[in-house]
Amino acid sequence: MIKAVRGTRDLLPPETALWNFVEAAARDVFRAYNFHEIRTPIFEETQLFARSVGEETDIVSKEMYTWLEDGRSPEQMLELAWVKVHGKGGDWFVPPRFQKPSYYPDIEFRPPAGERILLEFSSRPSLERLRLMRQYAGTWSEVCQQQPVLRLVTDREPSDFLQREAARLDIEIETVELIDELSQSLTLRPENTAGVVRAYIEHELWQRGLQKLYYIGPQFRRERPQKGRYRQFYQIGAEVIGPPSAGSESPARDAEVLEMLATFLDRLGITGWTLELNSVGCPNDRALFNEALRKALEPVVAKMCADCQRRAVMNPLRVFDCKVPEDQPIIDKLPRISQFLDEPCRKHFDEVQTILKATGIPFTLNDRLVRGLDYYTRTAFEFTHGALGAQNAILGGGRYDGLSESLGGPQAPGIGFAIGEDRLVMSLPQSADTVSPKPDVYIAPVGEGMNHEAARLARELRGKDVVTELGDESFRLKKSLETASKMGARFVLIVGENEVKAASFALKNLATGEQTSVPRAELARKIQNSTDRSQVATPENKR
Ligand code: HAM
Repeated sequence: MIKAVRGTRDLLPPETALWNFVEAAARDVFRAYNFHEIRTPIFEETQLFARSVGEETDIVSKEMYTWLEDGRSPEQMLELAWVKVHGKGGDWFVPPRFQKPSYYPDIEFRPPAGERILLEFSSRPSLERLRLMRQYAGTWSEVCQQQPVLRLVTDREPSDFLQREAARLDIEIETVELIDELSQSLTLRPENTAGVVRAYIEHELWQRGLQKLYYIGPQFRRERPQKGRYRQFYQIGAEVIGPPSAGSESPARDAEVLEMLATFLDRLGITGWTLELNSVGCPNDRALFNEALRKALEPVVAKMCADCQRRAVMNPLRVFDCKVPEDQPIIDKLPRISQFLDEPCRKHFDEVQTILKATGIPFTLNDRLVRGLDYYTRTAFEFTHGALGAQNAILGGGRYDGLSESLGGPQAPGIGFAIGEDRLVMSLPQSADTVSPKPDVYIAPVGEGMNHEAARLARELRGKDVVTELGDESFRLKKSLETASKMGARFVLIVGENEVKAASFALKNLATGEQTSVPRAELARKIQNSTDRSQVATPENKR
């Protein structure tokens, strides 16, 4: 039997009513703050995430679903590339699909004495490609009885991270003007801020002043699945971004976004949340902080996990993402970014807090909170909820003042957040049943030839906004009544030959058991008036 892939799940009714409930509430609340919806693609160029979220983050280095253009696996794409083998008698160009040395029993690949074999691959640089090249070299080294020199010829300057990785794998990189397009690395979005900022730049949205954009949709991360952590999960997020002249840098924006979140959670009836707040400073502060961190890590890093040892060198801030229990006492003693904020950052952060206090939004300061994505500057925050267990962050966000520039756009400070919708739904006080809309009426055709009469009536009622379910003339009335009450219908409308002739129908109220005869023209009004259709005032059934 084929089942849903690990870390993904089906959302079924009635639970989907809860999802609709929170999404409708989000749209409602966001509208009051003048946010507008944006929908970006669920896959983007891998570079977008590498450059914004950061190559050293867990998300980019371990969790992305990445593939090469046209759906081929990296192995298959590699087979498409021509490989130049420099061997005895000159250079051999080994065509696609025939790159195994065993295909050429007659060719002596061993180079003249003193020369090394060169395997040259032409492709866009990517981590998978580099690793595959290294693996691939193994086959050739057996035949040639020496380690070949590996060279990647590319038309795109590899990132610093890829250059370091290439050096580690002993792969030379040659950048040329343009090569045949072989592959483009694409990735299922692990988050949506990068996509929104890419769209902001691509469509020059700064021309329209301050942008307040929200999105609702799936994100993908290859994390170890557990309660509240999925490989396909959903976010409801929002971003405020624009030129500084439009006020995008103001602490008032930060406070407004946080106040909106508090309003939203309150609207859903979620209590017991905590807003944890920090400032991660700006690049100036970060440089000093990183230096202090490196220094503080030096004497202790050997005792830490392998990830932290790498982080300490590459991006020491990421040490704070470590979840290894043995490392925590060490991390607790490290310097904090709060000690390194420069005057403007400190003032900005103070102002955010002043406005939050003025609007009555409770928060706690947490100077260990650095967030797991590299683009953050200044305000960083999370809302946590006690009922969620280990994965207790309902949402996270912060400011990202340099992100647009780092993606080639204009200066466009911004702040945003993403709510984990899966976790939000788990912390709702409502049960799915209370927000799931029920049929107003169940039509029970009684007797042969009544299906078409019932269909006509159903069409009339639905046209007047009455939620209608249809039975079948083959059902006995008892069965129809049972079915109707099981699905929570409030009325059963009986359609028999006599009723049709009289143009007046028996309408049974399932709650009271009362049955009255109602003329056809009055049915819709009677059902609507005598029903409290909004059992729960959900945005979905509020009409
Ligand atoms: P994030 O902290 O990576 O931030 O994710 C935001 C929220 O998404 C988390 O607090 C959590 O509720 C939910 N989430 C993350 N991973 C999973 C998972 N595997 N399963 C279930 N829920 C998950 C961001 O994504 C940033 N883009 C937020 C942002 C927007 N910052 C500025 N603007």
